[in-house]
Amino acid sequence: MTKSLQDLFGLNGKTALVTGASSGLGVEFAKALAVAGADVAVLARRLERLKGVAKEIESLGVRCIPIVADLSEWAQLERAVSEVEESLGKIDILVNNAGIAPLARAEKMRRDQWDSAVAVNLTAPFLLAQRVAQSMIGRGEGGRIVNIASSVSGVANSIYPTASYSATKGGLVNLTRQLATEWARHKITVNAIAPGWFPTEMSIDPRYGDVHPKYKEKMEALTPMGRLGEEGELMGALIYLASPASSFVTGAVLAVDGGWTAW
Ligand SMILES: NC(=O)c1ccc[n+]([C@@H]2O[C@H](COP(=O)([O-])OP(=O)(O)OC[C@H]3O[C@@H](n4cnc5c(N)ncnc54)[C@H](OP(=O)(O)O)[C@@H]3O)[C@@H](O)[C@H]2O)c1
Repeated sequence: MTKSLQDLFGLNGKTALVTGASSGLGVEFAKALAVAGADVAVLARRLERLKGVAKEIESLGVRCIPIVADLSEWAQLERAVSEVEESLGKIDILVNNAGIAPLARAEKMRRDQWDSAVAVNLTAPFLLAQRVAQSMIGRGEGGRIVNIASSVSGVANSIYPTASYSATKGGLVNLTRQLATEWARHKITVNAIAPGWFPTEMSIDPRYGDVHPKYKEKMEALTPMGRLGEEGELMGALIYLASPASSFVTGAVLAVDGGWTAW
């Protein structure tokens, strides 16, 4: 059977929710889905940033709405999903992208640094996936869930001290596999993208307007491609996992890391 690029990768008529889309990789993910034709809801806490992103995305010819919610509050999540459904309709694609990485050596990590990472990086993705999947199962049309893990999901973080981040990102990968197997019969695929190092608010040191040179040098040295990821380099991976092209792919973790986890 011959398929066109549109048949394989087109997302026209689909609605996506992308969390953590007020900055960094979430903005790129939201744009990727819009480029493929999906309407997009962008969720985070900073409304002004979201409004700017939404305006940019609408210029691509799709609908885009900003949704303000704190992912550590379940009531806000529930309200956010309902808001998307009321404005854009059923959610076909959920991208659990929001994440935080509290920095502290393990012996000094405070309880709140642990708890906040668990809430945002692990509990919220589960609760959102559960809420969205319930609706997908009810409709019987299937759907796509993509969790944004990390190159430190399967190995320790050799650059920064991030016990709560590493633990929750590891958990997110195995949650991906569990949900994938439980929901496969409902035609819902659940996959993860594991990005390597990208300069974003999470990794940029404001004093340098870039990743701290000491850490950047180490990231480059430990990445076979010898560099950090660049803007746009995650778009294809998400479009693939959100589109018909990946219809038989579930429970997978797609590394986009310049080879970081290959050695
Ligand atoms: N950058 C990298 O090198 C890298 C590598 C591997 C994986 N990742 C993963 O990629 C994802 C995106 O990270 P990034 O690098 O783009 O970082 P970022 O620029 O700091 O973005 C994080 C996003 O999460 C949102 N967020 C944080 N806490 C939230 C909360 N309580 N409620 C709602 N939204 C919240 C932030 O928005 P507000 O502050 O407006 O709420 C922001 O939009 C994360 O899951 C991260 O772990 C990043």
